[in-house]
Amino acid sequence: MTKHFTRIRDLGCQAAHDLIARAKEMKDTDYRSELLDGKTAIMLFEKASTRTRVSFETAVYHLGGKTIFMTPAESQLGRSEPLKDTARVLSRYNDCMIVRTFGQENIEQLAHYGDIPVVNALTDQGHPCQIMSDLLTIHERTPNFDAVRVAWIGDGNNMANSWIEAAMYFPFELFMAFPEGYEPDKELLTFALQAGAKIFCTHEPELALEGAHYVNTDVWASMGQEEEQKRREKAFAGYMIDEKMMALAHPDAKFMHCLPAHRGEEVSEEVLEGPASIVWDQAENRLHMQKAILEWIFTAE
Ligand code: CP
Ligand code: NVA
Repeated sequence: MTKHFTRIRDLGCQAAHDLIARAKEMKDTDYRSELLDGKTAIMLFEKASTRTRVSFETAVYHLGGKTIFMTPAESQLGRSEPLKDTARVLSRYNDCMIVRTFGQENIEQLAHYGDIPVVNALTDQGHPCQIMSDLLTIHERTPNFDAVRVAWIGDGNNMANSWIEAAMYFPFELFMAFPEGYEPDKELLTFALQAGAKIFCTHEPELALEGAHYVNTDVWASMGQEEEQKRREKAFAGYMIDEKMMALAHPDAKFMHCLPAHRGEEVSEEVLEGPASIVWDQAENRLHMQKAILEWIFTAE
């Protein structure tokens, strides 16, 4: 059966835990292999990327394979060739698709019409590869996730949705604060709560920060929302993570951000560059987690 990674739920609980352990092992041994020898990964990116693109390209190389990078502008997608046709054609050449796109339905369509694995490298609805690697970053400091309090302060965006999914499989408590009107996917939240996730939502960032061990935020306007920037700046007033906000969290709290960050908006320069910040470890862990994800995809169960 073709294995896709379109959302964290595709893994199931055990595989999600195994991926963290495997990525850590790969990190500690500077892992290389020939698992992807003779294989190609097509990387179809409709949005900008630094970390996801370069970590995946490097990960594929470390596993002995090759990537082909493609954007709509440089391909027939930009001249209206349907995605479902593209999916079938790419499947005939390549061994997996790594896709950054707008709608989650694009990922579903590629998985449906193609017959090779599809990896979600970010959609408007989720960023599962990022959250798996953020979980690795937390695991390195608090291995069992037990009695760990994670705060999400900001937009109910793709990152927030993937955190909600992760809370179904890992025993941390997730305290989330969003301005009114910027809540995450309601159906997903209900689903996760019914599955036993410990998630608490508020419109008061100070409440969500109380005692948090890991303080997470992200840009206020995601890619594709650039024209909403001014409106969002108003809506998110009081949401910047600065030293005063960090002081509300646990005394040893760490600051996390998937990057790129906007200094002076969602996070202050002092916090981002300060001793609590673990954002560079997060960025590094993308590489190790991508290798573990690729190995999971290409290893039969
Ligand atoms: N965090 C992340 O996905 O970064 P890029 O947009 O640079 O890939
Ligand atoms: N929420 C951000 C994440 C970027 C990695 C975006 O979608 O633009």
